[in-house]
Amino acid sequence: MATSEPVQKSSMLEPSKPRVLLAASGSVAAIKFESLCRSFSEWAEVRAVVTKSSLHFIDRSSLPSDVVLYTDDDEWSSWKKIGDEVLHIELRKWADIMVIAPLSANTLAKIAGGLCDNLLTCIVRAWDYSKPLFVAPAMNTFMWNNPFTGRHIEIINQLGITLIPPITKKLACGDYGNGAMAEPSKIHSTVMLACKKQPFGACNTLVIPSSSAAPA
Ligand SMILES: Cc1cc2nc3c(=O)[nH]c(=O)nc-3n(C[C@H](O)[C@H](O)[C@H](O)COP(=O)(O)O)c2cc1C
Repeated sequence: MATSEPVQKSSMLEPSKPRVLLAASGSVAAIKFESLCRSFSEWAEVRAVVTKSSLHFIDRSSLPSDVVLYTDDDEWSSWKKIGDEVLHIELRKWADIMVIAPLSANTLAKIAGGLCDNLLTCIVRAWDYSKPLFVAPAMNTFMWNNPFTGRHIEIINQLGITLIPPITKKLACGDYGNGAMAEPSKIHSTVMLACKKQPFGACNTLVIPSSSAAPA
């Protein structure tokens, strides 16, 4: 894993790879974030954004060395005075695609409500919805079935955010039910398919290895 570094400004040349901003929030499914980073970095330039809670589930040292990881601390350590770059705006400009996997109930609610109190939600609040934004929710069945979830999902649908629905299985807490994050391979293939159809970056000309799907 590379530590955070200034976001490179766009060069005169087209990027050779699509730029994927992968984000994780505080679900136990964030243990699969490393696998997602690994599969996306096979064909995309990947930057990662994580919430404070998600770091309970992510081993930073296990992330691929070419994936730069940003946390809330970087937002403030990179800004000292007027005129300095603002990290969430730079990342929003940098990315061709954003993928939030896992999306916690809390971050879902914040996005639906327009709240932006950390790096991840500031990027979403500034997002350009002509660029794809995917979310893969992950939460306990009680949370998933809560009436708030339906309301929040409706709002994010209206915004143009693409939902990669959760699945039914035995959850980390031992309960059985819907709410588990879609398998990394499903998230990866869904985004890759959309990327191939997009006219931006080098997506259309990329030859993506068929073996690049993430392990479950
Ligand atoms: C062990 C543990 C597992 C958790 N798993 C989930 C989960 O799968 N989904 C979820 O939405 N929240 C889960 N939570 C609660 C979130 O971590 C909590 O709401 C947190 O504030 C989310 O912050 P974030 O959205 O900024 O990442 C879990 C909490 C703990 C302590």
